[in-house]
Amino acid sequence: MKLRLPPSTLLAALTLVAIASLCVPAVSASSPRCKAWLVQSIPTDMPLLRRVPGVLSTADVLRWLAGNSTKKLDIIAQYWQLNASPDDPSSGDYGYSQSDMLRFGADLGRGVYKAIEDAADRNVTIRLLQHSGVYPDYDKEPNDLTSGRTNVKSVTLLFAKWWGSGIVHAKVWISDNQDVYIGSANNDWKSLSQVKELGIYLVNCPKIAKKVETYNDNLWKLSSLNASAYTKNVLDQEWQLTRKVPCWSHFLESKERCKSPLPRSVDVPHVAGYPVLSHPHMFRLPLGTPGRNHSSSYLLTCDFAAQMSTCLIRIWLIDQSSCLLCSIQHLSKLTFSVWNILLLFGKYQADEQAWVDTIKSVGSGGTVRISTMDWLGQSQYAEQTVYWSSISFAVSEVVFSKHAKVKILVAHWAHFINNTDVYLKSLLYSNVLCSSSKYNDCSGKVEIKYYMVPGFNVTGAAISNGTSTGNKYPGYTRVNHGKYAVGDVRAHIGTSNLIWDYFYTTAGVGFGTYDQDIVSQLQEVFDADWDSPYAVPVGELEEGQSFSS
Ligand SMILES: *[C@@H]1O[C@H](CO)[C@@H](O)[C@H](O)[C@H]1NC(C)=O
Ligand SMILES: *[C@@H]1O[C@H](CO)[C@@H](O)[C@H](O)[C@H]1NC(C)=O
Ligand SMILES: *[C@@H]1O[C@H](CO)[C@@H](O)[C@H](O)[C@H]1NC(C)=O
Ligand SMILES: *[C@@H]1O[C@H](CO)[C@@H](O)[C@H](O)[C@H]1NC(C)=O
Ligand SMILES: *[C@@H]1O[C@H](CO)[C@@H](O)[C@H](O)[C@H]1NC(C)=O
Ligand SMILES: *[C@@H]1O[C@H](CO)[C@@H](O)[C@H](O)[C@H]1NC(C)=O
Ligand SMILES: *[C@@H]1O[C@H](CO)[C@@H](O)[C@H](O)[C@H]1NC(C)=O
Repeated sequence: MKLRLPPSTLLAALTLVAIASLCVPAVSASSPRCKAWLVQSIPTDMPLLRRVPGVLSTADVLRWLAGNSTKKLDIIAQYWQLNASPDDPSSGDYGYSQSDMLRFGADLGRGVYKAIEDAADRNVTIRLLQHSGVYPDYDKEPNDLTSGRTNVKSVTLLFAKWWGSGIVHAKVWISDNQDVYIGSANNDWKSLSQVKELGIYLVNCPKIAKKVETYNDNLWKLSSLNASAYTKNVLDQEWQLTRKVPCWSHFLESKERCKSPLPRSVDVPHVAGYPVLSHPHMFRLPLGTPGRNHSSSYLLTCDFAAQMSTCLIRIWLIDQSSCLLCSIQHLSKLTFSVWNILLLFGKYQADEQAWVDTIKSVGSGGTVRISTMDWLGQSQYAEQTVYWSSISFAVSEVVFSKHAKVKILVAHWAHFINNTDVYLKSLLYSNVLCSSSKYNDCSGKVEIKYYMVPGFNVTGAAISNGTSTGNKYPGYTRVNHGKYAVGDVRAHIGTSNLIWDYFYTTAGVGFGTYDQDIVSQLQEVFDADWDSPYAVPVGELEEGQSFSS
């Protein structure tokens, strides 16, 4: 249904970008250049994990974003728990001592919270938007920050009211309309020191900040509306389910459609309710990568600023039909170079498409690396279960036709989804299929490992009902929570778990780039995990194994 470009077109376009990158004039010194760093959280007690130099820590970056803000700070979060609650019996932190909490790194969360509070006290205009609190009280912190202050505003946006299911799942910080964090880290102390996270920190990047702000503005607008007055149920032909959508959605016939209260959108053609989003809107942006030393000689002979990169912001949230994010207008006002026009076949990049395109960007005999917490070939939260093979399909395609090696890391932790294993084994079966014909000459391969952060099986409150549980770490910790894909030329840093719902009913923001420094550094981050003793291979389907479990 959705148009897809032949990979050869994409490759041709990429080649042009690569050539263009060598002959672009330096950016003038008066406009500070946009800089990007990869950002990680590494859980404590992982001594055998190789550290990749030049990658920043999430706790530092979030503290800096708040610390550097002078005018404006916008935060989109799923939930808040920057301050640990070892004294709350309903918390997964319950029963750990002060010294345990210090050892776990809980002070980092407090530091980030304090930095936001300080910004609030500096009269910075702060907007906090999140999904509703998850039990016990995960929106208490934004409410506390708002309390008694006119410069801080906080809203809760419930996606289920608009799309039947789903949540705000984006993790985005925007400071002073120019510095941005996009990644997997929640506003949770555990995301700074007990959960493995991956994101990107962008400094002096007003163009990127503006796109994300528009997205945020739309979410704010949505939160101010009465969903029941603005939603209808429709049949979604593509996924064969009935779902709730806003009444301005293209799922409705034009005469039944209401006028969208959101800012006017760019007009995009729609098919069966979904916009035709065949190719990303990308914008050219010279990107500095100070976290990375340049080793390649041609880069050294080139002006530093000549190193081009193309950024794709994932701007297709949730309901593509409502084109919520398509209201990123003003595109025509931006000036595009000829290279951008070549790349500007469509206007937006859907997150699913970004994953698929990143996988398909791999060259012949190349390697794709995918890291994810969850992997399911179906939906998990929708009322009707949706079968979803988009990602595994793309993986199998490059294994067959490009002889690519695809390495996938999936988290195995306390809240592991049990039927993940059968979906992974079914993907591994591609290896059997690929070599099943003597004409295939198959040398591509899928390899999958479970990532087990040590201690994952001893998490939860230390004390329950007055008795010691024997747990060694707080609840919902010790997991690889980063979500990204990286090929030979392109990286996609996402916020979506690889499950249907995150792509079709959930708000998220991801970041994609062709920057070679980011690509190679992200490969190193992946390899450090992949080569560590914490990653164990997932076995192929065994003879007689049942799929019924
Ligand atoms: C970059 O190179 C310098 C000098 O060789 C070294 O000290 C530094 O650690 C390197 N940084 C990274 C991120 O590799
Ligand atoms: C501002 O950000 C920079 C890095 O981007 C950091 O070195 C600095 O400490 C931050 N300042 C504050 C006050 O957080
Ligand atoms: C805080 O900022 C607002 C608008 O930015 C301004 O109107 C107000 O006077 C400021 N308050 C203080 C105490 O500086
Ligand atoms: C929201 O809209 C519904 C349906 O139009 C209406 O019944 C309800 O009173 C509205 N709620 C508020 C708070 O305005
Ligand atoms: C997965 O299976 C285990 C063992 O059978 C069970 O304890 C656990 O609750 C299941 N988890 C989910 C999410 O279904
Ligand atoms: C947790 O996992 C480790 C390593 O796999 C194992 O040695 C240990 O017995 C497990 N502990 C529990 C409580 O299951
Ligand atoms: C605590 O004990 C009560 C009463 O024995 C029981 O109903 C409850 O389920 C227990 N809670 C937990 C978390 O074990």
